[in-house]
Amino acid sequence: MLCELLSCANMSRLILTAGLCLMIISLASSSMLVCYFDRSAETRAAQGEFTISDIDPKLCTHIIYTSADISSTNELVPFNASDLIDYKSLNRLKTRNPQLKTLLSVGGVTFNIQKFSKMASTPTTRSTFIQSAVLQLRTFGFDGINVDWRFPGPGDKQAFTMLCEELLGAFEDEGIQTYRQRLILTASVSAEKAVISASYEVPQIATSLDYLLVLTFDFHGPWENVTGHHSPLYQGSQDTGNNIYLNTDYAMRFWQDQGAPAQKLIMGLAAYGRAFTLASSATGVGAPANGPGEEGCYTGENGFWAYYETCLYIQRGQIEWIAKQEVFFSVTEDQWVGFDTQSSLAIKVSYIKANNFGGAFVWSLDLDDFRGEFCNQGINPFIRFLSSELILGAQKVPEIMAWELSRYFKPTSTWQQI
Ligand SMILES: *[C@@H]1O[C@H](CO)[C@@H](O)[C@H](O)[C@H]1NC(C)=O
Ligand SMILES: *[C@@H]1O[C@H](CO)[C@@H](O)[C@H](O)[C@H]1NC(C)=O
Repeated sequence: MLCELLSCANMSRLILTAGLCLMIISLASSSMLVCYFDRSAETRAAQGEFTISDIDPKLCTHIIYTSADISSTNELVPFNASDLIDYKSLNRLKTRNPQLKTLLSVGGVTFNIQKFSKMASTPTTRSTFIQSAVLQLRTFGFDGINVDWRFPGPGDKQAFTMLCEELLGAFEDEGIQTYRQRLILTASVSAEKAVISASYEVPQIATSLDYLLVLTFDFHGPWENVTGHHSPLYQGSQDTGNNIYLNTDYAMRFWQDQGAPAQKLIMGLAAYGRAFTLASSATGVGAPANGPGEEGCYTGENGFWAYYETCLYIQRGQIEWIAKQEVFFSVTEDQWVGFDTQSSLAIKVSYIKANNFGGAFVWSLDLDDFRGEFCNQGINPFIRFLSSELILGAQKVPEIMAWELSRYFKPTSTWQQI
């Protein structure tokens, strides 16, 4: 953060400060906290309803609005008129936090990927999309885009690379021509080894993209016949065969091994649990399961519980630690749910910092206990914890360094901002 304000190049003539500057970069780097706003949460019942007015604009460094659509003529378009109202409300949050960056997402888990394949297939259709994207983003005051294509098939691999390259080229040109800060280019990418290998030319896309949001959750879920945590940090003691790849650590290392720089990798965190219905009296990891757990009272999907819905269940159950994977599960009668708490998040944050990743992203704002009604941990316990660890934690460093640097530099107006 400090180094965005102070150019390292200018300082490098001072021998001492060159080293200091590098130190600041490496210490203050894992400081991004990207939070998704899911428009579908606006129509949930009762206390589950979450609208843009429920967002705390200071909690995250970036907020992603999900999702926009791709039209039959390959343009980036809103799904309907209510999105346009939301776009404006979301971007107005920046008046309350001028540091906040907003991104518009296109795609997502329920999106018809044929629209991506078609749009990305020729230079002309890509160009149509890219030009419409620049116009939409600027018209509504977004700072960038999040391409959430799940996932480009092997036949789309090169098209995806070209889409990334051409988006960057257009963003760079537009920034120069309009004297504005260049639009930010991000993509959400798979955390599964086989999909990564099939879908991406990693070194090329990692060159074009500013950030890669690695979807390090849903490794397991009630679509399987045995219990398993959806977002383990590490390999489990029962994992054999291809299951040894199904964890956050493997995915993050695999992306790096394939050529993605650590600083561009943003690690996914799930503010929800995945619940199973147990099929026998066995209750551990790998216990036989008989389909998804009950539906979340407010979110309404079988076996998917918002963080706040998980709180309702675990009040009645026992919380268990999965030692090797460093995450929790809980059993209440025949319901088995894997989830994260502040303790397991603390370990994941340390992991992000130790590996010098760019930061974390959270799916999603509406799944936290956003009014503090369910978990007895205050408002937004999940994301507030991450915010204090990643954003505030990173700001402490420049404070110390500012004192160090003040021995070499006369304070300027730039300093007052820190
Ligand atoms: C916009 O679309 C969403 C879901 O696709 C729907 O819930 C909402 O009611 C729509 N709004 C309008 C104004 O049509
Ligand atoms: C789960 O399914 C796999 C094959 O898909 C099978 O080999 C295994 O025995 C099943 N396990 C249970 C507990 O039903």
